[in-house]
This record gives sequence, structure tokens and C-alpha cells, in this order.
Amino acid sequence: MAKFIIEKTGPLVGEVSISGAKNAVLPILAATILTDEPCEINDVPLLSDVDVMCRILRCVGAKVDVDEKEHTIVVDAKGINSSEIPYDLVKMMRASIFTMGPLIARTGHANMALPGGCSIGSRPIDLHNKGLRMLGAKITVDEFSVDAYAPKLKGSLVYLDFPSVGATENIMMAASLAEGYTTIENAAEEPEIVDLANFLNKMGAKIKGAGTDSIRIEGVKKLHGTRHAVIPDRIETGTFMVAAAISRGDVLIKNALPDHVRPVIAKLLECGATVNDEVDGLRVRGDINRLVATDIKTLPYPGFPTDMQAPFMSLLTTVRGTSTIIETIFENRLQLAGELSRMGANIRVDGNMAIVPGDKRPLHGANVMATDLRAGAALVLAGLVAEGHTEVSDIYHIERGYENFADKLNSLGANVKRVE
Ligand code: UD1
Repeated sequence: MAKFIIEKTGPLVGEVSISGAKNAVLPILAATILTDEPCEINDVPLLSDVDVMCRILRCVGAKVDVDEKEHTIVVDAKGINSSEIPYDLVKMMRASIFTMGPLIARTGHANMALPGGCSIGSRPIDLHNKGLRMLGAKITVDEFSVDAYAPKLKGSLVYLDFPSVGATENIMMAASLAEGYTTIENAAEEPEIVDLANFLNKMGAKIKGAGTDSIRIEGVKKLHGTRHAVIPDRIETGTFMVAAAISRGDVLIKNALPDHVRPVIAKLLECGATVNDEVDGLRVRGDINRLVATDIKTLPYPGFPTDMQAPFMSLLTTVRGTSTIIETIFENRLQLAGELSRMGANIRVDGNMAIVPGDKRPLHGANVMATDLRAGAALVLAGLVAEGHTEVSDIYHIERGYENFADKLNSLGANVKRVE
């Protein structure tokens, strides 16, 4: 299995360009099932999760052409001939569940193996099921799979007990082809939901309010093909912002959308980093002796993103003072603390709170394991500043969500080698 070997480097300096957003492109690719006309998706990040979504689309009968050089994918879902997604694909990526809404809307049926839990928590799909039931689907769940059947979906009021990103997206996609109006109350407000709504509206859907907690969808009879460029990845943006700060560097992050990373900017400023909104992107500087502790609580957007909690944990081990991190979205997302302890950090975890002491002792290199995507990236960031040499194993997690992570860091002066 591949791993990263990271040597301590000085400040990262230079420019880096952000790729298209993983969490936007996955539902957008799933949404191409909703039409029998071809859709062209641009600015697609080349990630293993994208690869899995392409395999899922092919598995249900879509034709998928990937142009890696152009970062473009064309999906022609005219020939959909199956509505079943097997476990060997679902187990590779939870976001497979995004195909449930489109499949049921297009074919009247969807059968998926259950994604099960993952290292960051149990991750149920009850809200996806609740929403599709409200639209008239008959849903049967057993130990292994979920089966959804609805010859015709009907618009409805759907109240989400929690603003789940995936459930909001699944319901929005299904409701686009339902009869009548659907309102999603307590909807998630993430930028990726707005991007999906923009894509669906280009296909002929009638969606209003995406980006607020109340989304109104007027169902249409048919959707058509279109072309769409994916928004830049706000989590990759945030990760490089933290890379600049933790290495006390000076990095211009091109293609970043400041509006999508407001809480990350706010927390970096609280830590004493400098963040400037320049014409070409966001410039982040981590001044050598000035960085100090801060407290973080993850919340649904526009609160501080759970996906940025791990990179910040690495950063906060290197600043002056003691910080706290409270994770409220996933029940088991503080595992990074254990791996960072192997590098000399002295983080105490109590329930959903981590207490992170600052830089009395610098981190040292160690053999550590990426327990999930963001924790993996955070370990690489820690490795950049740890004395000596750090090996991060299980980097397939990192490659699910960061395009050319090592190359991008190395272009800023890091020394990260990928070895098999
Ligand atoms: C998406 C993102 C992920 C991010 C997360 C929260 C994608 C591909 N992934 O994941 O990177 O960390 O949003 O911002 O976009 N929940 C339920 N029942 C459900 C669905 C969710 O209880 O039916 C719970 C989850 O267990 C979790 C919380 O709601 O505790 C948030 O999950 P959700 O917003 O659905 O995250 P995902 O869409 O899975």
C-alpha cells in the first residue's frame, strides 16, 4: 500500500491552484442520471472518489467519458438499464448513496447495498429515507440494503431533523422530477448544495432557495443535458491555508473563493496568521512567533466545517497556548489526536472535545496512519513541521479527496515522497 514520507521543511512559499470540489462533483455526477441527454462536467478533480462515482454510473448503464487532461467528464445516461448498486462499489464510497434519489426519479426504483458506518461515525441514512418517503417512495431497509420504489414521486414538505448535506442533495435531485412542489425545511446550506442546484437548474429544474435553510423545488416532467464547471474545493483551500500557517510560510492560494471559507479565515486570524484577499486568490502568511491558541466548534455551514477540524488540530499543536476543539457533526472524528500523540503532541480527548496544548515541545517524526481523509491530510501537514521524518500510511484515504496533494505541497517547497 502506498504511503507518504515527509521530511521537515522550512516555510512553504509560492502559489498553489485549487481543484474542483470533491463534495460538489460527486452529487453533480449522480444528477446526470436524471436526464437521457449528455452532460459535460468541467473542472473535475481527478480523485479516486470521482473514479468510483464513474464506475457506479457505468454500472447502471450510463456511458462515461473521462478526459483527464481537460479535467472534464461527459456522462450520457440515455441507456440506464439497472437501478442496483452493489456492495463492492458502495463500500468504497459512502457518497454512492447520492445515486438513490436520481435513480428512483428516473427509473422508479433504486436498490443499494447499505454503506454502513465508517471510521468517523455510524453515519445513518434515515434522513435520506425519510425525505424520499415523504415524496411517496416505498422504502424497505434490511440488514444489507435499502430498496426504494416509486412509479411516480409527488412533491411534499420535507423537514430534516438535522441539516444533512447528503439528504438535502438526494431529496433535491429526486424532487426535481416529482409531480408538484417540494419544500425542504431545515435544509443544509453548504456551497456544494448551491452548486448542485445551479447544475440542476441548468438542466431545466426549478429550484429556489438553495444556500438557505428552506429550498423550494417545482417538479418538472423532463430534464435536459447541459454543461457545468464545478466550484473550487473549499476544504482543499482551507487545507492549504493551514499548510501556509503551520509552516510559517507565505502562500497564494489561487482559485479560492473567500466567501466559502469565512470561518477558516476567521480562525486563522484569531490564531495570529495573516490572510489577504488578493486579486488572484487568498494569501496566507504564518508569522514565525506570533501564532496563538484558539477554540473551535464544528457546526453545519456557515459554521466551522467539520472537514477542517483535523488540519486545525495539527496547526494548534504548534502554536502558543492551549486550544479546545469541539466536534458536533460526527461522533468519532477526533481520532487524529491519537496519531498526533505518536508525533509528540499531548492532546487529551474527552467525549467530543479535544484539548490541544501548544508548542512546549515541537512535534517529532513518526510512523502514523491516515484514519480518514481529513485526518490523513492533517498528518501530512504535521509532518511538514515535525523534526526528522514522518511516514503516513493508508494514504488512499487522502487520495479520495486531494488531487496531487504531494506535488502541490512540493511545488511550495515541501519534501513529500509517495512510495508504494
Ligand atoms: C458531507 C460531506 C462530508 C462532510 C459532511 C458534513 C460529501 C460527499 N461529504 O457528508 O465531507 O464532512 O457533509 O459537512 O458531500 N445524518 C443522519 N442521518 C442521515 C444523514 C446524516 O443522522 O440520514 C447525520 C450524520 O451521521 C452526521 C450528520 O448527520 O452526524 C451530518 O451528515 P451529512 O451532513 O449527511 O454528511 P454527508 O452528506 O454524509
